[in-house]
Amino acid sequence: MKQVVEHQSDVLVIGSGAAGLTLALHLAEKSQVTLLSKGPLSEGSTYYAQGGIASVFDEGDTVESHVTDTLVAGAGLCDESVVTFTAENAKRSMEWLIQCGVAFDKEETLDGDSTNAPYHLTREGGHSHRRILHAADATGKEVQVTLQDRARAHPNIQVLERYNAIDLITSRKLNRPGNRVLGAYIWNRDAEQVETVKARFVALATGGSSKVYQYTSNPDIASGDGIAMAWRSGCRVANMEFNQFHPTCLYHADARNFLLTEALRGEGAYLRRPDGSRFMPDFDERAELAPRDIVARAIDYEMKRLGSDCVYLDISHKPADFVIKHFPTIHKRCLEFGIDITTDPIPVVPAAHYTCGGIMTDLHGQTDLNGLYAIGEVAYTGLHGANRLASNSLLECLVFARAAGEDIESQLHKIPMPDALPAWDESKVSNSDEEVVIAHNWHELRLFMWDYVGIVRSDKRLERALRRCIMLQQEIQEYYSNFRVSNNLLELRNLVQVAELIIRCAMERKESRGLHYNIDHPQQVENPTPTILQPD
Ligand code: FAD
Ligand code: SIN
Repeated sequence: MKQVVEHQSDVLVIGSGAAGLTLALHLAEKSQVTLLSKGPLSEGSTYYAQGGIASVFDEGDTVESHVTDTLVAGAGLCDESVVTFTAENAKRSMEWLIQCGVAFDKEETLDGDSTNAPYHLTREGGHSHRRILHAADATGKEVQVTLQDRARAHPNIQVLERYNAIDLITSRKLNRPGNRVLGAYIWNRDAEQVETVKARFVALATGGSSKVYQYTSNPDIASGDGIAMAWRSGCRVANMEFNQFHPTCLYHADARNFLLTEALRGEGAYLRRPDGSRFMPDFDERAELAPRDIVARAIDYEMKRLGSDCVYLDISHKPADFVIKHFPTIHKRCLEFGIDITTDPIPVVPAAHYTCGGIMTDLHGQTDLNGLYAIGEVAYTGLHGANRLASNSLLECLVFARAAGEDIESQLHKIPMPDALPAWDESKVSNSDEEVVIAHNWHELRLFMWDYVGIVRSDKRLERALRRCIMLQQEIQEYYSNFRVSNNLLELRNLVQVAELIIRCAMERKESRGLHYNIDHPQQVENPTPTILQPD
């Protein structure tokens, strides 16, 4: 007989990447926080971020220029007020990270003492200035480890590691008055039991959903759980058709999910066809530094035209010591695959990288459901429009986590702790007897999303994808109703929901813009608006 466990907290933060950790640390000064992560605390996209974080630090640069670059990359669909809010708050957020102990690289000095030297700023596609603060090519690891060490040490933060949030508990679902989030059901992976958390506020910081695609730069946790949970709780989602494909992931039979940062191109790397010729100048005057949607589509086009499995990223014309100093992680990892980036071109392909759409929020991260916040990659704030500008993502996590923290703090004294919540009901389920159904559906879903809803789409492909998606949803829902939960089942249930949202958004957009390219609608409409989906 499993025991009934009910946790209680002022704020439940689901997700321990840059967004979740930043929010938890801000709130912990005045409230009790429970911080949940599905795997180890460190496992999320944040840990793997390479290039850095965009923020105006150079005297020759301006916030206005950061705003303009973001709007240009966003291809007419950014919310300008959100872009301005983010760019204006960037420096403050970076200064907070630095106070927390995050060590960004500084310029080299002649005497070797860089204490007072300015930060070294790198450059990435779509940025008109050097604007990216970074810690060599492992910025995310530096941010993640610094913040998670502080969170673990904080007396007001209870860390629950290896717990999957399954679903939100809301007043509507319990037939109680109002429309408020009251907590969540969470699956303790080690004890293999479902527990309850009740909380005055809940924040979803669960990251993106790029694992819905066969090839992705993301870690396994990126299964869109937060988006699916919020949707099932009645929240609107927007712009899910805009999934960003990073142009350059390592192409090698034994490498999985390994990204080659855009900063390589920022520091002069070229993209080459298999015959060694450069192709980006044929596609865009910014060549290798064009925004990601343009570069990824150009690579896709060249690969299909030439029947080639990959193209090549080449930085071997730069001095070897420069390359090794700036890109030590990439240099080391590629050597493990027999590629010396100081002398060899690197085989690369595009892969699903970032979810530009998500749960709709206001400038404080507040969603449609009272008390529920969404921050980081899980959210749609209006910042990224039809294509995210490189290194604006970690920035969004930091800026909106702070804004959400301030908003929650200002209401804490007004919101009482919810009454007791019902325990999870397991009386009608048994242990799964056909895991093959889950494994098969996982594979099928990710493959048709890649083939039909990838870099280049068509009306027919989207219709095919939707038909398959609905069929899988029915099978998975039946499985979910009959069997005990597991990580794979929970993720698959969420992924198939997110897949439907991506396809439906893609079908609604009758034009090609930013990351969404449909061969049946190659033109752009005059007054574009975000694609907003509302649950029934
Ligand atoms: P994540 O860091 O992904 O964290 C999600 C958290 O949610 C994890 O703790 C996970 O365990 C938890 N979680 C998820 N589902 C559940 C659930 N059901 N229950 C409990 N917990 C759950 N952006 C930049 O700005 N600059 C870069 O240089 C950069 N480089 C990148 C390189 C790579 C390889 C990748 C993959 C992304 C990169 N990005 C970069 C994008 C950026 O890293 C992410 O968008 C950002 O880190 C997202 O942070 P987050 O806090 O929203 O989510
Ligand atoms: C990269 O380093 O190329 C990733 C940057 C980003 O996703 O913003």
